[in-house]
Amino acid sequence: MLFDYPQVDQGYQPISSVWEGSDGELIETMLRFYSSISPEPILDATYNRGRFWKESSREVVSMDIDPKFEPMIVGDNRVMEGVPDAAFGTVIYDPPHVGPQGRDKSTKKFDEDFGATVACGKEHDWSLSYLYPPFLDQAKRVLKPEGLLLAKITDMVNSHRSKWSHCDFMRMADEAGFTVCDLIIKVRTGPMMSNKWATAHHARKRHCFWIVCRNSARCER
Ligand SMILES: C[S@@+](CC[C@H](N)C(=O)[O-])C[C@H]1O[C@@H](n2cnc3c(N)ncnc32)[C@H](O)[C@@H]1O
Repeated sequence: MLFDYPQVDQGYQPISSVWEGSDGELIETMLRFYSSISPEPILDATYNRGRFWKESSREVVSMDIDPKFEPMIVGDNRVMEGVPDAAFGTVIYDPPHVGPQGRDKSTKKFDEDFGATVACGKEHDWSLSYLYPPFLDQAKRVLKPEGLLLAKITDMVNSHRSKWSHCDFMRMADEAGFTVCDLIIKVRTGPMMSNKWATAHHARKRHCFWIVCRNSARCER
């Protein structure tokens, strides 16, 4: 535990809406800035290799659908089987934002690291937003009242169309009963590039969004 609750009102000391540091530093900053209850325990519902927590001493429960990452809970975050209600102060979500890369269907390290192993084809309108509603229902169930959902969402271009995943996520979070409190733009140092791309019709994305949702009818503490 890094600070005591309840927080002392320290006046107007905002955080920046644009972040150029690491995800781990931003998560710690958001936990300190937005939490109105103890943020722990934290459920990381898309743990992968746990890069967010390398420098952290937070109490984190890891979940991933892929057993090769050896999370504490091997499971689908759209079901969260066996996870009790109202158990967590924070849920962290960093879902896949691209479909499997390449035509040969073999899983590459890139695909594993970005979780790019989930179907994202015509039947889903070339978008991964269909993953969000069942996850959001579960996140709401396992969060304590006033708990935080922090979601890293990246828009993508698929089948020659921009897919505005962050808009989908914010609308769906609202529909699931969260209050969408804030949106932080996180700048990425090394945007994805491929030497297979011969022409460009869309801006190369150098950012993603961290969306701050509270399991409450209001944002203000
Ligand atoms: C982008 S990666 C997360 C990276 C992680 N935040 C990190 O920094 O190491 C997405 C992860 O979500 C996992 N995943 C995809 N669908 C899932 C689901 N339905 N339930 C749980 N985990 C899922 C993938 O296996 C992958 O490890």
